[in-house]
This record gives sequence, C-alpha cells and structure tokens, in this order.
Amino acid sequence: MKFEVTRLKRNNFILKQEGLAKLYLYKDDSVIIPSKSMKVFYNEKMEINRDISLLAIKAYNNIINQESLEIVDSMAASGVTSLRLLKNSINIEKIYINDINPVAVKLIDKNLRLNGIASNRIALSNKDANLLFAEISQKNRLPDVISIDPFGTPNVYVDTAFKAIKKHDGLLCITATDTAVLFGVRPKACVRKYMSKPIHSEYCKEVGARILLYFISRIANINNNGITPLLTFYSNHFIRVFALTYSGKTRIQKNSLNSYGYLIHCNKCGYRTTVSEYRLGNPHVCPLCLNNDHLYYSGPLWIKEIHQKPFLDEIIQLNEQNAIGNKKRIEKLINYALQEIGMPISYYNLHKLCQKLKLSSIPKLDNLINLIKENGYTASRTHFDFLSLKTNMRIEDLKSLLLKIEK
Ligand SMILES: C[S@@+](CC[C@H](N)C(=O)[O-])C[C@H]1O[C@@H](n2cnc3c(N)ncnc32)[C@H](O)[C@@H]1O
Repeated sequence: MKFEVTRLKRNNFILKQEGLAKLYLYKDDSVIIPSKSMKVFYNEKMEINRDISLLAIKAYNNIINQESLEIVDSMAASGVTSLRLLKNSINIEKIYINDINPVAVKLIDKNLRLNGIASNRIALSNKDANLLFAEISQKNRLPDVISIDPFGTPNVYVDTAFKAIKKHDGLLCITATDTAVLFGVRPKACVRKYMSKPIHSEYCKEVGARILLYFISRIANINNNGITPLLTFYSNHFIRVFALTYSGKTRIQKNSLNSYGYLIHCNKCGYRTTVSEYRLGNPHVCPLCLNNDHLYYSGPLWIKEIHQKPFLDEIIQLNEQNAIGNKKRIEKLINYALQEIGMPISYYNLHKLCQKLKLSSIPKLDNLINLIKENGYTASRTHFDFLSLKTNMRIEDLKSLLLKIEK
C-alpha cells in the first residue's frame, strides 16, 4: 500500500525521539491534551506502556518463543511502538502495523522512512482492527503477538484477536483505559462491558485488573483457548495485560474454570475474602463486625496469579540492558509486582487505615511490612498503589498492630 507522503508538509511536524526511534508528530497535536481529537494520537505519558511492551515482547522472545516473530500492532497511531520494536533488533519475521485513522497511517509511513525502515517484513494497513484480525485468522501462519491499544475498552476486539492469534504460546498484549468502569465508578457499565460487578474500594485497581483478566479469559474459553497472565499492570490510568494462550479442552476446564471467583467485602469494617462461587449460602453477615447490611460482592473475577515470576525476572534483566526511558520506575513497578505473587487479593492503603484509626503519625510502610513478617504473617508492597500493603494478617489484627505502634 502506497501513501501520498509528499502531501504531508514538513513544517506541520515536530520531531521527537522515544527510545531508539525518531518520530514526526503533528505540531497542532503537540499543544493539546492527548485525546481522541488529535490528528494522530500520541501521549508522552504512555511511554511507560510502550517501554514495558517492548520489554515484555523481548522477554517472551527470549524465554517462551525463540522463533522469528509475527507481530500485529493493531492500533498503531503514530507507529511509535512498532518503530521501537523494529529499532530494538527484536527478532521479527513480519509486523502488521495498522490504524483505522488514514492520517495516522500516512504518518506511520513517514515515520518508517524517517527511521530508514523500508522492509518487506512490514504490512502497513488502514483497517478496522476486527477486520484485520478476521483476515489474519485465515492465513496459514497465525501471529505470535497481538497488541490491542484502543481508546477506552478493548472488549469488542478480544474475540477476533483470539481467532487470529497462535493457539498455543501466543502473546496477547491488551490495554484498557476505561478505568472508571473497571474501578467501580460506573458499576452498571462494567456489568454491561465486562459481565462482572466491580467494587469502588481502596483496592479497586487490583479488582479492575482482575475483572479485565476474567473477561479476556472467558472470551478465550469460548474460542477453545485458555490464558496464563504473565504480567498485569496498572499505571497512569490504564491497565495493560500480557497473557499467553494455551489450548486443550481438559487443560482449559481444569485451569481456567477454577481461576474465576468472587470477592466479598464489608463496607463497614473493611473485612474481605474471596470465594470460588457466589451462592446463597455465602455469608450475608460480616463475620468480623457482624453487620448484615454492609456486605458487598464483586465478580466474577480472576482469582489466580496475575504475573509469572520467570517472566518478571527476565523483564528486570532486560530493563537494565536496554535503552528504556522509564528505567527506574519500571524497576520499582516490576519489583513490587514480583512481591505480589503468592499474596492474597486486595491491599490496605496505610494512610486511609491510619486516618480511620485517628492515629497521629503514619509508620513507614517498609517498617510495618517487616513488623508484620516478624509476627509470622506474609506482607508485601503492591505496584497498584505505592502507599498500600498486602498481607494475610486479618484487618482487625492489622488495626491492633497499628494502635500498638502508636503507643
Ligand atoms: C490509544 S491510541 C493507540 C496509541 C498507540 N498504540 C501508541 O502507543 O501511541 C488508539 C488508536 O487506535 C485507533 N483505533 C481506534 N479504533 C480502531 C479500530 N476499530 N481499528 C483500528 N484502529 C483503531 C485510533 O485511531 C488510535 O490511533
């Protein structure tokens, strides 16, 4: 496909560097807040999303699938992610770079030239992502990696993406930016879009991420697939999931189906627990504060691990070795994500807890975590909220410990 690049006037653009890629962006776009109304979308603050995507695809290629990859960047905007993948010598056999916006596709073409990338490995297109996935699903070789990075919810693209991606060990990278929906500010919209009831609590970010995983996994199931989440992270008002596909009915029935469950939360005292089924037999009275009109449930949601340790270890190594803009932040984020593995669902925001207890000072989070561990419990940081901790200590014991520290 040839685009009339000559019509794009040079002085309409600004030049930018992100990682190893150079980029032309529309000058008009550079003076407005990133939004759908830009000629071609680019958000500097989402660089961390692209940094992690680059690292995740490299990690996948190093430790899961060493083949030369077929990648689909289905919503490429300026093409920045694809350009960074191409400039970072990732083992790429073919890359589909697509956007529904024709102006974006012209800009991608211009940016490929700017970076000296002219290759028959690139398939540039201007299609609806669902149409692109449907076409790809008819090919002999199915892509190893599909990235979905829409405005808002990715929900309408997940089914066709599962039809297009490799059935086993394919890597799906999916972003959701409709966090008000997933975090329970708009609960009815969440049920409509994700078939799950959210909760607007202090740990709603984790619940939102688990609802997104549940949804992706259920759509995988109806396509005779299952998913293994490799990394699920929240940053700057978006959630990005990296999940591996697998097939086999027995494995799907054994692994996927018991990954779904419900969360029960008491709005009065903060008690929380998870159950694999939500039945009439579940408690309607909080076992802690004994109130019967404050118990709330959320779900269904993903109740198993949301990251895999070897994958995160590889990302940490690659982060050290590569030109990554948000190196320090990613190191912190992935290290906290590592600590979440094996920990219970939900977390406690220390500031909110201390405020509730009317404490005069807030202990240092790391000191409190060490103290909880000394008392024989597990405790960790969480990447979802840098002011929160995860622990298997029950909330009433945690409150008592904080009161004891205050004395
Ligand atoms: C959030 S931006 C993508 C940002 C880009 N991945 C980056 O890192 O800069 C969403 C892009 O999806 C495109 N888009 C929206 N709906 C689409 C669809 N149905 N099919 C393909 N592209 C679509 C928009 O034109 C926009 O460029």
